[in-house]
Amino acid sequence: MTIHIGANPGEIAETVLLPGDPLRAKWAAETFLENARQVNDVRGMLGFTGEWNGNPVTIQGSGMGMPSLSIYVNELISTFGAKTLIRIGSCGAMQQDVGLRDVILAMTASTLSTPSRGIFKELNFAPCADWSLLKAAAQAAEAKGTPTHVGGIYSADVFYDERPDLNEQMVRHGILGVEMEAAELYNLAARYQRRALAVLTVSDHLLTGEALPSDQRQSSFGDMVEIALQAAFA
Ligand code: ADE
Repeated sequence: MTIHIGANPGEIAETVLLPGDPLRAKWAAETFLENARQVNDVRGMLGFTGEWNGNPVTIQGSGMGMPSLSIYVNELISTFGAKTLIRIGSCGAMQQDVGLRDVILAMTASTLSTPSRGIFKELNFAPCADWSLLKAAAQAAEAKGTPTHVGGIYSADVFYDERPDLNEQMVRHGILGVEMEAAELYNLAARYQRRALAVLTVSDHLLTGEALPSDQRQSSFGDMVEIALQAAFA
């Protein structure tokens, strides 16, 4: 057990999927895992462990934003020995050719700041995805026929009142989408030599103002979960 994860030793798998939303962790575990059982409910941040194609998998909510994700990922790595950590979440599209429900595989994640700023200080560390996971996810997405984009994303610290000039620069530099967690996941994976990837579904579009209604969000997230699972065990 850790401060934020009440699981017993051995109850967390080496492969962990990390949705921001704990209820999406429940939905994904019930939909995609066999023998799924709840292993965490501390602060309502639900976690489940089960099997996918006979392989042990944990799906643990990470909360919103990098400080929250940092707590769960640190504990998953240091106490529970997680080796492969894949964020599954939503993002806002920042390019015209990226559509609602498309999948984005984050090759790298730019930020203004992360919880690791205190360690990196003046260094602009370039957090990046694990190549084996990225390659396998791209292949899985292609095989499924899911419209998928691979490239850089932006991990923001705020959902509201983002600086318009900054968003403009992101768009200009080809950033595919914005979310709030991937950069710190990649930082921690690099620090502890773990494999990490962010597989994201586009839920809203910053250029067009479109957004998926909440009842359509869940159903379009299934492809993302399957791509993450196939990548983890490729
Ligand atoms: N996650 C989903 N959409 C987002 C957005 N527009 N900004 C930040 N995080 C998001």
